[in-house]
Amino acid sequence: MAPLREFLTLSDEQREIQRLARDFAQTELAPHAAAWDREAHFERSLISRLGALGFLGMLVPESDDGMALDAVSYLLVLEEIAAVDASTAVMLSVHNSLPSRMLLAHGTASQRERFLRPMARGELLGAFALSEAEAGSDASALRTQATRDGDAYVLNGTKSWVTHGNNAGVILAMARTDTPETRRGARGISAFIVTPGQPGFSVGKKEDKMGLRASPTVQLVFDNLRVPADQMLGEPGQGFIYALQSLEHGRLGIAAQAVGIGRAALEHAVRYAAERRQFGRPIREFEAMQFKLADMAARVTQARAVLYAAATAKDRGDPIQQLSSIAKLTASEMAMWVTTQAIQVFGGYGYVKDYPVERFFRDAKVTEIYEGTSEIQRLVIARELYAS
Ligand code: CAA
Repeated sequence: MAPLREFLTLSDEQREIQRLARDFAQTELAPHAAAWDREAHFERSLISRLGALGFLGMLVPESDDGMALDAVSYLLVLEEIAAVDASTAVMLSVHNSLPSRMLLAHGTASQRERFLRPMARGELLGAFALSEAEAGSDASALRTQATRDGDAYVLNGTKSWVTHGNNAGVILAMARTDTPETRRGARGISAFIVTPGQPGFSVGKKEDKMGLRASPTVQLVFDNLRVPADQMLGEPGQGFIYALQSLEHGRLGIAAQAVGIGRAALEHAVRYAAERRQFGRPIREFEAMQFKLADMAARVTQARAVLYAAATAKDRGDPIQQLSSIAKLTASEMAMWVTTQAIQVFGGYGYVKDYPVERFFRDAKVTEIYEGTSEIQRLVIARELYAS
């Protein structure tokens, strides 16, 4: 991964999966990423193509048709994909970290058979619906209501900011199963396995975004949507806890995405600084440029080190709530800073769409926002400092 040397101690299998992801990104994504971004085009064929590589079942055991990768390998894949196309990286991160992990951790054998296994094979894309218009950072304030009616729950409400919700075959949706009379806060929320194409299910507004334009973000509207009772996931009232558990893993995925974006911005800047001549010499020969590139390299390396330290802790089975927030905070703020510097290296050419750094800059911003803003990551980190 020139120009930075690999400093991680990787097994042969980990190097192999890293190479597989890098080759896929270079051959299948690099030629199209700029156009998909420009046209806000979601390339649906990626679902089956990524599925064929096993990339939609990375954390799922082989017995459920997955690849059973360790966390380090999984994040290496996301980093390589994000270094070329961050939109595809978020698709992989959401699908693998959130709905797949929730089903794996809490699904019954029958739910795993019907939903998780086809997801792992790349036949169904999974989405995660937690946020609502009035429940973003304060996620447990969500209002979508699920009311028991015979052998089903009837869902009413609108979910916001759902990554690829208009292309998903399975949506893990959090809804209240308490009532205004029996409000139980975070403990009044349950998780449901929702499938599209039913009466009462519709896709609402598609967002017109600054970045990650090739990854659609939509509202999902549930209007008296009947969800069979056997499609509740796990225990009633535990849905918010399950969502937060899966977000611990999700935040590592977003950190890997941010590391990929930052690393790619650095690589492009290093190359450009060697080619671009001003005042009779390549701009890399100016100390101001060398210091800037050095700081970028240092920040990318720091974020990468924290990310894979957190992944290693995860693979050891250690608690990672605080570490995953530290990794996401470090990596996303790095990505925003490094992509800003990369634009500065490119000067006017960084401000136009001729080079990918402009896209990287736009893509980086959301890593400071979704799966918990930087402010929420600081809150989680600070709370843990006082946890007994
Ligand atoms: N694992 C297990 N349980 C957890 C947990 C975790 N990581 N974090 C909290 N809990 C438990 C708490 O112990 C508590 O349990 P009790 O009821 O027994 O006390 C319960 O969950 C509620 O927790 P809090 O009291 O801490 O809840 P809170 O309302 O104060 O807020 C928060 C917690 C950290 C602010 C949380 O709301 C949060 O993370 N907000 C950010 C929302 C977010 O990340 N949204 C992501 C949207 S999805 C997305 O972006 C995906 C995409 O498409 C890209």
